[in-house]
Amino acid sequence: MSGTGDIFGLFPAGTTRDADGTLVVGGCRLDDLAREYGTPVMVVAEGALRDRARAYREKLAARWPASQVVFASKAFACTAVQRLMVSEGLWIDVAGGGEIVTALAAGADPATLVLHGNAKTTEEIELAVRSGVGTVVVDNVDDIDRLEATVPPGRVQGCLVRVIPGVQASTHAAHATGHEGVKFGLSPAVARRAAARIEASPRLRMDGLHTHVGSQILVADELAAAVAPLAALGRYPVYDLGGGLGARYTYTDHPPSLDDYLDALIGAARAHLPGDARILIEPGRSMVADNAVTVYTVTTIKPSATPAAPTFVAVDGGMGDNMEVALVGQRFEATIADRVGGGEPVTVVGRHCESGDVLSTDVPLRDPKVGDLLVVPVTGAYCFTMSNNYNGARRIPVVFADGGRARLVVRREEWSDLLVRDVAG
Ligand SMILES: Cc1ncc(COP(=O)(O)O)c(C=O)c1O
Repeated sequence: MSGTGDIFGLFPAGTTRDADGTLVVGGCRLDDLAREYGTPVMVVAEGALRDRARAYREKLAARWPASQVVFASKAFACTAVQRLMVSEGLWIDVAGGGEIVTALAAGADPATLVLHGNAKTTEEIELAVRSGVGTVVVDNVDDIDRLEATVPPGRVQGCLVRVIPGVQASTHAAHATGHEGVKFGLSPAVARRAAARIEASPRLRMDGLHTHVGSQILVADELAAAVAPLAALGRYPVYDLGGGLGARYTYTDHPPSLDDYLDALIGAARAHLPGDARILIEPGRSMVADNAVTVYTVTTIKPSATPAAPTFVAVDGGMGDNMEVALVGQRFEATIADRVGGGEPVTVVGRHCESGDVLSTDVPLRDPKVGDLLVVPVTGAYCFTMSNNYNGARRIPVVFADGGRARLVVRREEWSDLLVRDVAG
C-alpha cells in the first residue's frame, strides 16, 4: 500500500515545520534532538501526551462520573510515562511484576494498580500482595489458589474476574483477545464459579468483572459489544471494560474519535450495567501511539537492481526498536525530517539480520541520501516495551520534548550494558 496522504497529520498535535522545512516536535527541531541524543531516538511530545491523558479522564467522567481511566502501561512502561499518567489522576494497569516495579518507582499509589496476567507466577502474586496492589484481575482459578495462600490474615485483596465476552474483533489475529478459545480470561460459566469462590473467601473481595476484546480495534461497536456479556453475569460494584481503541498509523486508518468510542462504550454501559457501578477503562495504544516518533539516520541506500526490486533505504535501527511490523504487519509511514511530502516510493529497512526487518514498504521519500534523518511517526505504542537487543543492538533512548525544551527520560544502552547480565566471566 503506497502512502499518499499528508504525513504531517500522523504526527503529534502541535508538530510544526521550521522555515527550512525541518520537523519540530514538542517545540524541538528533530535535527537538534538527533545531534544531542544520537539516533535512533524516540521523541515523545509530552504536552500532547498529557492532553490525551486529561481528555480521556474528563471525557469518561463527563459520561459516567463514577469512572476511572487506567493506563495500560504495557504500551509504554517507562517511569516518565507512568509518572505523567499518575500526575493526571490515572491508575496504572500492570501486566506482571516488572510493571509493578516501574509503576511504584514512578510514584503510583499501589492501591491504584490493576494487576493483569494470564500466567501470573507465585512470585508476582507475592510481590503484588506485599506491595499493596489494589486490584488483581483473576484470569484463572490458580490465581485464586495463589492469592488465598498469599494474602495474610486480616488483609482482604480486591479482585476482578476476567471474562471472555465472545466478541471477535476485526483486528490482527495476534491482537484479538475477546473470542472463544482465547488464552486470556474465563468463559462465562467458569467465571461465574470463580466469582462464587472469591465471594466465599475471607481473604478476597469480589469487586467485579473485567473484559478486553483486543488491540488496534477500529470499530467502536466491537468494543461496546463486550459490555452486555458482562451484565449477564450479575450485578457488581466495578466493571473494567479494558482498552483496545485503535490508533491512526496510516492514511487509510480511520479509528473512532475518543468521543465516538466513549459514546459507544458508555451507551452500552447505560443500557446494560447498574447505574451505581464504577466503570474502569484501560487504554494503552490510543493513549501513546501518535504522541511519539522515532528518528533514525539513513546509513545506506541500495538502488533498485531490477524493475521488480525496490530501492532500499536502510537506517540505523529497525526491529530492535519497532517490533510492530514483524509481529503483526503493522504499516508505518515515514519521511525525511527536512523534506516532508512528495518523492518516490522506496522500502525502508532496518539493520537487523532478517528480511522481515522492514519499517515501511512502498513509502514515498523525497530524495533520500545517506546521513539524512528519517522519521517514523506513531511509534509511541509497544515499540519501547518490545524493544530488544537483537544483533547486539543497544536499546534506544526516549526524550520528552515540550515547549521547545527536551529532556532525556531513558538513556541509550551502552555497549557495556550488553555484558551486564552475562556472568560467565
Ligand atoms: C488487559 C488489557 N487491558 C488493556 C490493554 C491495552 O490495550 P490497547 O493498548 O489496545 O489499548 C491490553 C492490551 O492488549 C490488555 O491486555
